[in-house]
Parts: sequence; structure tokens; C-alpha cells
Amino acid sequence: MRYRKLGRTGIEVSEIGYGAWGIGGKQWLGGQDDESLDSLRLAIDLGVNLIDTALAYGDGHSEQLVGQVVRESDRKVYVATKVPPKNRVWPATANTPVAAAYEYDYILACAEESLRNLRMETVDLLQLHVWHDAWVDRDEWKRALEDLKRSGKVQSVGVSATEHDPNSALKVMETGLIDAVQVIYNIFDQSPESQMFPLAIKHNIGILARVPLDEGALSGHFSENTTFPQGDFRDWYFRGDRKKEVVEHVDALRRDLGEKVSIPDTALRFCLSHPAVSTVIPGMRTRRHVESNAALSDAGALPAETLAILKRHAWDRNYYS
Ligand SMILES: NC(=O)c1ccc[n+]([C@@H]2O[C@H](COP(=O)([O-])OP(=O)(O)OC[C@H]3O[C@@H](n4cnc5c(N)ncnc54)[C@H](OP(=O)(O)O)[C@@H]3O)[C@@H](O)[C@H]2O)c1
Repeated sequence: MRYRKLGRTGIEVSEIGYGAWGIGGKQWLGGQDDESLDSLRLAIDLGVNLIDTALAYGDGHSEQLVGQVVRESDRKVYVATKVPPKNRVWPATANTPVAAAYEYDYILACAEESLRNLRMETVDLLQLHVWHDAWVDRDEWKRALEDLKRSGKVQSVGVSATEHDPNSALKVMETGLIDAVQVIYNIFDQSPESQMFPLAIKHNIGILARVPLDEGALSGHFSENTTFPQGDFRDWYFRGDRKKEVVEHVDALRRDLGEKVSIPDTALRFCLSHPAVSTVIPGMRTRRHVESNAALSDAGALPAETLAILKRHAWDRNYYS
């Protein structure tokens, strides 16, 4: 496993991090806690030292599982978590009043709740789970994050950028207040490369590349017949004609890359090929996925010819809407 600096925090995070949404259980169904704990422990054994969770993932359940393995580990494992918007509306828009999402007291109360779930004294990175630059001049979120840092309950702070709209989090990156941004970055959505990533490099802000496998579309075993349990987030995300569209796009990728090339391996290495990316955080609830993903860091960046091919596969769409 190789490690990269998480921006100006100076901490060295594993190139492959652990996305802990799926293990929360409520939005992604079908997981088992024993298997999730096993996959988390294996990830740590294989050098993963950053886990991304959130208070909203299974209403604290993901944080509880993460806290359990981090506390029992004799290695330093960095925990990133998130404050959900008070109105529970994803994403925020320019019209969302900051008071509806992030009042001062509310941010502090959520941070305390996360610490209770994790059973830890401090979190390494606290992120606002939604963000819009319309809030950049407001005082409440700034004071809350600064006060949490000052108290030692939080080591560094960041925001999670709106789905497929990285440019709605550029102004916050200019404030000097945030240490990291989490953004969708994958073969299909390459949009952070144009403005966000250069800005992150300029201001030394860490980048967590999220949803690197497009919620499983880039898993390599997605077909028109793939089904998800009713009530599972993916049953909604891949609704209607979307499975057919995904299959067409992945088939086109396969034609260009060659049948022997692994789609998920290429998808994760794609993210790590950009120097602005500090870590890529695939969701991985199974040992098999942890093993193959953790091994990819050592494979290094993709060759320029492959990156040139992947450039042509950017796909402008928003399945979250
Ligand atoms: N707004 C936000 O801030 C936000 C939103 C979404 C996600 N996130 C963060 O980003 C993380 C990653 O996104 P995600 O979990 O939604 O989706 P993802 O990482 O794009 O995809 C996860 C899916 O890929 C499968 N997978 C993992 N490794 C694989 C491999 N090597 N081969 C084949 N399939 C593989 C997983 O299977 P198994 O799980 O069955 O192993 C799971 O079904 C989240 O866990 C969360 O931490 C943040």
C-alpha cells in the first residue's frame, strides 16, 4: 500500500481508503455486520488507514462498526465522518438557507453524536455532508468547525461536494478554512479535473475520490438483469432504462480497453492516476473486494494511453436526481 499526504493536514493516508456507506445497512441492504467487520479488519491489515463514514449511514450504525475496529486496532487508522444536513435533504441547492442545513449548535451536537457512536475522543476529519457555495460567507458553519477543531474533538475539516457538481464547492476551497473535499470522481464523471483539482493542488487541500465504481456500475459484473433488494438505494439509482444505459457504456469501455482488462481495477487506478487525489474510497463489504482493491495501490498510475482512452468515456448524466 502506498500513502499520500491528505493536503495540508500532513497526515499520510492510504491510496485505497474504505468507503463505509454500504456497511451502514439501511440504504444498502443485504450486508451482514460480521462480514462488514471482517472486511474492515482485513482492509486495515492490508494497509488501509482511512475510513470514510457518516452519521447518516444507517443512522450511526456504520460509525459504530468503524469505531469498533479502529479502537481494537493497534495501528493508527484515520476516521473521516460527516454531519448530515439538518433538513435531511440531499443535495443542498443555492436556495437552501444555511439555517435549514447547518446551524452552529446543530453541527456541534452532531459531532458529539458521531463521537459517541465511534466511542472515540476525536475524529480525524469532519465533513459537512452537503455543501453549497451560496453559504460561503455565512458565519455559523465556520464558527462551529473552528470551535470543534480548537476543542480537539475534530482534527481537520472538509465538505462533501454536490453530486456531479464539483464547481459548487470552489469558493469554500478559497476560504483557507477547509482541509479536504470529498467529490465524485470516476471514469464516467471526470468533471473535478477541470477546476476543482487544480484548485486543490494550489491550496494544498486533500481530495477524497468518492463513488469510484459509480455505485457498482463499474464493478465489472453489472448487467441488465442485475437486481437489488426493494428499498435498497441502488434499486432507485439504477431505475428505469438506466441499467441498459450502464451496460452500453461499460460494453463500450470493454471494447476500447480489451476484454481482459479488469473494469473495477482500471476504475480505481484511474482515480489514483490524478495527482490531486489523496485517497480513493471504494465501498467494499466483502473480503474478496477488499483484497483486490487494496492490492491496486502498488500497481501505480495507469499508462498515458489508457488514460487517453478513458477520457473518451466521460458520461454527462446525474442518476441522483
Ligand atoms: N455525499 C457523500 O458524501 C457520499 C455519497 C456517496 C458515497 N460516499 C462515500 O464514498 C464511498 C464509496 O461510494 P459507494 O460505496 O457509494 O460506491 P462505490 O464505491 O462506487 O461502489 C461500491 C460497490 O462496488 C462494489 N465493489 C467494490 N470493490 C469491487 C471490486 N473490486 N470488484 C467489483 N465490485 C466491487 C461493492 O461491493 P460490496 O460492497 O458488495 O463489496 C459495492 O457494491 C461510500 O462508501 C462513502 O464513504 C459519500
